[in-house]
Amino acid sequence: MHQLVSLDKLSTKQTPFYYYDTALLKETLQAIKTEIEQYERFQVHYAVKANANAKLLNIISQAGLEADCVSGGEILAAIDAGFSPNKIVYAGVGKSDWEIALGIDQEILCFNVESIAELEVINEIAEKKGKIARIALRINPDVEAHTHANITTGLAENKFGIALCEMKTALEACLRMKNVRFTGLHFHIGSQILDMRDFVSLCDRINQLQEELHQHHVHVESINVGGGLGVNYEHPDQQPIPDFKAYFQTYAQHLKLYPHQTLHFELGRSIVAQCGSLITKVLYVKQGVRKKFCIVDAGMTDFIRPALYQSRHQIENLSSNDAHETYDVVGPICESSDVFAKAIDLNQCHRCDLLAIRSAGAYGEVMASQYNCRKLPKGYLTEDL
Ligand code: LLP
Repeated sequence: MHQLVSLDKLSTKQTPFYYYDTALLKETLQAIKTEIEQYERFQVHYAVKANANAKLLNIISQAGLEADCVSGGEILAAIDAGFSPNKIVYAGVGKSDWEIALGIDQEILCFNVESIAELEVINEIAEKKGKIARIALRINPDVEAHTHANITTGLAENKFGIALCEMKTALEACLRMKNVRFTGLHFHIGSQILDMRDFVSLCDRINQLQEELHQHHVHVESINVGGGLGVNYEHPDQQPIPDFKAYFQTYAQHLKLYPHQTLHFELGRSIVAQCGSLITKVLYVKQGVRKKFCIVDAGMTDFIRPALYQSRHQIENLSSNDAHETYDVVGPICESSDVFAKAIDLNQCHRCDLLAIRSAGAYGEVMASQYNCRKLPKGYLTEDL
């Protein structure tokens, strides 16, 4: 990995920090572009929640992607990075009044509405402003995604979205209100999905719903299928760019779009995960009773995925060519879940070696916290080193 950046360059920065391989990010964006060029009505929004690093956002907006936001802060970050407001979709179960007002003022493309109560508030705020807000109903499709329990969102009882059985009531409410305009349907079944059959199940469900709506002469301008395409965490170098071809083809083959309908995607992880690594320094190697601990200066505050989801990330010792030894790689935080990996083989570790925790570009830097009064990690792109 890191063909484009030398250890010398990485060594100039205070650890821990995120390193983003700009060339890989650009290749990934190009791969998406190449695929969607074949499908006239496909539009890809980048899910800002995956990584809101300003420089990354900038590259992604310049590549022509649109944005998917889940907070007022993300809307502002996206606009700052050059995404045009009328290409922003905005989801979230708990939108505050100021966030709704911001979306209306900025004339964003669409609010993905998650409850009837929220719909009423959007209508009220829009009315005060004398505007009409475009909305899509986020419907909970009751489709199971075969992924980690914490990141599946499409099952029947879920805080996200409007239950299928409530859809008709929500739609009627929406069509009655004067300051919202119904434009489409939104779905999202979960994240880190690698089995295309899960997306096929979503398509089947949408086709069925569309047919019902069509019979009732409800006009749907756009369908938004959310994000969720997974990445290969086990072998990041074997598959640095996710299989976008299979992903978009799945939708092209299985989703029946009506004439003039646009199809929106909200991809996060698959765009940014593989270009990012968390670079951390070995502080101590400690002999335990039966194992060796490699204690590094990054902790769960810098990168929480392993502690929160028991996710496994490849780790490499960039500084050592010595024979492998087996370690638990742990951070300095006062929590026993502050563990990056258990019983993994690394080239023998010494104090001050640099390790790279791979595939950390998505839900890494953006989820960092200051617990234990720690500093937030910085993020550098190839050209910053
Ligand atoms: N759209 C909606 C409505 C979402 O809730 C999400 C992610 C996405 C799009 C983007 O999904 P992606 O393409 O990245 O799978 N922190 C967790 C992942 C949380 C995902 C939340 N929603 C993790 O580190 O695995």
